[in-house]
Amino acid sequence: MCGIVGFVGRRNAAPVLLEGLRRLEYRGYDSAGLALLDGGAFTLVRRKGRVAALEDAARGKAGKVGIGHTRWATHGAPSERNAHPHIYGKFAVVHNGIIENYRALKKECEESGETFASDTDSEVIAHLLAKYDEGDFLDSVRHAVAGLRGSYALAILCEGRPDELIAARKGSPLIVGERDGEWYVASDIPALAGKGMKLCPLSDGEIAVLKRGGAAFFDIEGKRIEKEWAEYDTETSAPQLCGYPHFMRKEIDEIPASIAQTAAEFLKKPANQSLCEVLCHTEYVQIVACGTAYHSGLAAKCAIEALARIPAEACIASEYRYRDPVVSKSTLVVAVSQSGETADTLAAARLAKERGAYLIAVANVPHSSLTALADHVIPTAAGTEIGVAATKSYNAQLIALYLLALSLRAAKSGARDVSSSGLASQCERDGEDARLLETLRALPALCGEAIAASRKTKEWARRFCSAKSIYFIGRGCDHAAAVEGSLKLKEISYLPSEGYPAGELKHGTLALIGRDTPVVAVMTDRALAEKTMNSVHEAISRGADAYLVTSLSEYAERKEFAASILVPACERLFSPAVSVIPLQLLAYETALACGNDPDKPRNLAKSVTVE
Ligand code: G6P
Repeated sequence: MCGIVGFVGRRNAAPVLLEGLRRLEYRGYDSAGLALLDGGAFTLVRRKGRVAALEDAARGKAGKVGIGHTRWATHGAPSERNAHPHIYGKFAVVHNGIIENYRALKKECEESGETFASDTDSEVIAHLLAKYDEGDFLDSVRHAVAGLRGSYALAILCEGRPDELIAARKGSPLIVGERDGEWYVASDIPALAGKGMKLCPLSDGEIAVLKRGGAAFFDIEGKRIEKEWAEYDTETSAPQLCGYPHFMRKEIDEIPASIAQTAAEFLKKPANQSLCEVLCHTEYVQIVACGTAYHSGLAAKCAIEALARIPAEACIASEYRYRDPVVSKSTLVVAVSQSGETADTLAAARLAKERGAYLIAVANVPHSSLTALADHVIPTAAGTEIGVAATKSYNAQLIALYLLALSLRAAKSGARDVSSSGLASQCERDGEDARLLETLRALPALCGEAIAASRKTKEWARRFCSAKSIYFIGRGCDHAAAVEGSLKLKEISYLPSEGYPAGELKHGTLALIGRDTPVVAVMTDRALAEKTMNSVHEAISRGADAYLVTSLSEYAERKEFAASILVPACERLFSPAVSVIPLQLLAYETALACGNDPDKPRNLAKSVTVE
């Protein structure tokens, strides 16, 4: 969690750090701070709240070397005293991750008379740096990190070293950047975006020493290592609102382009023989992910089982490694993550690999810890997503996973080439496959129509914002869309909400449904529609107001619904990509009706790099 930026250059560091922090605010926004070195003592500026609050306070502060941080609180409430950087003795430090043994370390320091200024786990790192300080900055860092258990990405300054910054990483991402002889460090690539920026991601256990004259890399033993630099194709500027009131609204409008691009990238990839072999021998698919990405796994499970007839399971990544999962060489594990940095997803993916599974990453950030770990990467091409509540990345994940389902189907039916061209020729041979691929190709247009059809959600939102709780129900693939709709709503409106398989309502949740409780049914599968209607009627009989999102025109006008939205019809297995759109817009409109900022919901962060 949290965002880190550091700078060693010829200009004043504060504007560079603030620009980086603004770009990283999706990482956390409880509080922010920076420390600058200008020859003498540190200049420390910290503020509770957003980066904007820090900007005013940091204006005009001098120092050509600096570190900055935007925080998502884990240890210690959001406050100025808990904001990073933390300073002790000659050292200032910003930290991402969690120091699991901080209590024991802190106790030791306190027993030797040191006092702590914050409630964070991170401050102990500054104390350790002081403890091991014998005049060699790199040695102090090496010894300090050797005593840490848990995960860290660190950027550290030392008083008396006004042109030097040290960065270290274990378990939390950190990237070094260079442009025009100035040096940068950041927790995420978006902070370093821009033309001509060369990037060098640190691996676990590596330390970077950045000085005005150059960068050097070391392992934990202090041995010099050589690293490769690459000029990444990053966006030159941070995404702009372009006239939209919020990024979330803009990102919903970007769904058609995101899925079209994702499909195009998948289909232009050349054949990959080892992947083909793996798909041919896959007997079981496990999809591991968190949050919205997990919900894309629920939809994909239905598609893989129905299309390829291979057992598939969507697994909550934070539970996966504690259940001693059954994994064999014929298990295909698919880790799905927008950021590619979610700690729980990474831990599940590592375990699966250790146990012999082939690992596919479906990731939106191209150079991430997950893509580095995976045997094969299926990129989602949604572009940078700023809204904390994921929207376009979810739809892009669905398309990537549906294409994987089609590849598994092709492999299962004997195709030895399940690359895009292989898939295409397979589809030409098999009429049903051709139809499925065409349906996928039509999805961007259908999503565009669904956005246009969702204008009524503003009216729904006016009623929903005063509800005590809201329920979403669906069967089969519609269940996957329903749970995602519910998650979106609770994330940004703060209204209690649950998504349920429609048939499960009567086994408990019905007890919570009373007069005027909104119940939203998602119904796109004609074969299951009457079954879902039974659940709708059970809810209405208890006083619920029933709302409908459907592609079945004969149900859209039914009088038992308080209101309905008709989305375009598509192949039932792929329908969540379309039917989720009114639900995303409903969440957005309800957040606004509740007076909330949909882009930065309270207590949440976009990239969760702690367990
Ligand atoms: C956080 C975000 C969610 C996201 C989840 C998984 O909780 O707030 O929107 O779905 O992490 O993130 P990932 O980057 O792995 O998709």
